[in-house]
Amino acid sequence: MKTILEEISVYLGEAFAAAGYDAALGKVSVSNRPDLCEFQCNGAMAGAKQYKKAPAVIAKEVVAALPAENIFSMVDVVMPGFINLNISEEFLTDYLGQMEEAGREGRFGAPEGAGKKVVMDYGGPNVAKPLHVGHLRSAIIGESVKRIRTYMGDKVTGDVHLGDWGLQMGLIIEELRDRQPSLCYFDPDFTGEYPKEAPFTLSELEDIYPAANARKKEDEEFAVRAHDAVVKIQQGDPAYLALWQHIMNLSVPDLKKNYDRLNVFFDLWMGESDSKPLIEDMIRSMKESGVAYKSEGALVVDVTEESDSKEIPPCIVEKSDGAAIYATTDLATIVWREQNLHPDMFLYVTDKRQELHFTQVFRTARKAGIVPEEREMKWMGFGTMNGKDGKPFKTRDGGVMRLESLIAEVYDAVLEKIKENRSVAEADAQKTAEKISLAAIKYGDLSNQASKDYIFDIDRFTSFDGNTGPYILYTIVRIRSILKKYEEETGNAASADKLSVTGNPSAKAMMQEIVKWNAMLTSAYEENAPHKICAYLFGLCDAFNSFYHETKILGEEDETKKQAYLSLITLALEILETAIFLLGFDAPERM
Ligand code: ARG
Repeated sequence: MKTILEEISVYLGEAFAAAGYDAALGKVSVSNRPDLCEFQCNGAMAGAKQYKKAPAVIAKEVVAALPAENIFSMVDVVMPGFINLNISEEFLTDYLGQMEEAGREGRFGAPEGAGKKVVMDYGGPNVAKPLHVGHLRSAIIGESVKRIRTYMGDKVTGDVHLGDWGLQMGLIIEELRDRQPSLCYFDPDFTGEYPKEAPFTLSELEDIYPAANARKKEDEEFAVRAHDAVVKIQQGDPAYLALWQHIMNLSVPDLKKNYDRLNVFFDLWMGESDSKPLIEDMIRSMKESGVAYKSEGALVVDVTEESDSKEIPPCIVEKSDGAAIYATTDLATIVWREQNLHPDMFLYVTDKRQELHFTQVFRTARKAGIVPEEREMKWMGFGTMNGKDGKPFKTRDGGVMRLESLIAEVYDAVLEKIKENRSVAEADAQKTAEKISLAAIKYGDLSNQASKDYIFDIDRFTSFDGNTGPYILYTIVRIRSILKKYEEETGNAASADKLSVTGNPSAKAMMQEIVKWNAMLTSAYEENAPHKICAYLFGLCDAFNSFYHETKILGEEDETKKQAYLSLITLALEILETAIFLLGFDAPERM
């Protein structure tokens, strides 16, 4: 199905051609003077030079050639030669009818995407370290982009890419050695089998890491030991590996629980450590081909390109002590994904401070022949989530603002509001608060362009008014309750196929918002831009609420009109529900 702009452009193009001009001049855009008209066409100006005629003359000829049918409710030529247009309600309702029909097959008529096989790398939590708000952004944005791409027909595999091979593992193990030196793992003469049970609980683990992390900064000897421990894990030392496995067994299920609560789901739960078996071969082939060379003891790959405006330092693929680092595991992970998933495209979602890392890794991957030239490698860097003071919500050394505390704060604020608004059973209120707080957090994040920093403002995000998640949910709940009431009163469900609404300006305004769906969705997909869905939602919800305040829907006496209104809000509801699904949250029964 064409977008509404494409459809109107066809009529203008035909009129240009009928008047003897190039049909391509008939391109229509949304008006930049909404006070004057809904759409405009500037083709007469563009053609003036080519046809050596005054734009206004061309414009008048074109307008005279426009079809007489009920498509435009206003056509006007404005000096020097703009064609201003309003479309008729009939045209709109007809378009909406097509959307509704197409909606039954999916996407409400939005054209299918490119059908790519995509590997998405998002989430990226670090095992045994608390999830912090930076991980929240990656999860929220990644999940939404994944849902959008899937909805548009891509085949997306989401991989959480656990940080499970980093310094935190060494810190925990060495701290444990100092706390419990008699454990068998630390006895060099131990030859038996290591116990299946971990020598610590999850909450002890949560306590060990921050302590060890703080200690690292003061205690040089300890820091060196922790670092050596990481090398031992990577080399497969049985005692270290056994402890590492204990940490994984406790931490990963806990992470899963956290992501479940956020409505974020991964297809693969792989980590940096899974790339281990591929590292040796990869490094050898990089050395053999001469792509990698030794520099100050480390193995590096030059990745500068002539067009660089700033210097891109070489990518270190192996440290002088042979340790794998962040770039090593990322590269070997790409090897694995190429071999096992055969994607058309790689898409990473991380903090924008990791830009250099991904530039180096992508260039190295191409240079070393790990990915072929035609493979798309895309990285989305997101901005920082700041507090009201404009400073980041947390620091990168962990411990500060934990994700769980943040979610709990939003949840409490929402729960309080629900109880203020109406009396409700505690269990119901809790279920509702769970949904609303998730919407508050996700919408608050996703309504900003991902690359930008934004301020996390709990009061604003949880407000039921304004451009917020709760406002969107409130609108959805309102439409549902109208439809439910109708059903209770008549015993029939309203249907979406009686869309001919005329003579109601606020209904028309609402239809104008609905028809933006197709073009909006295409660009949200092409640009990986959930914020476009948010803007659409807000526009449609506002239009619905104006319509609702100005129109008697269930009280309308003209039955045909009433059915048309019910159809209109039914379609709106279906689209709103789809849109919030694409953002990664859903609406409660009541609010
Ligand atoms: N674990 C990393 C961090 O916390 C993020 C991982 C991002 N993904 C990747 N393939 N490097 O910063």
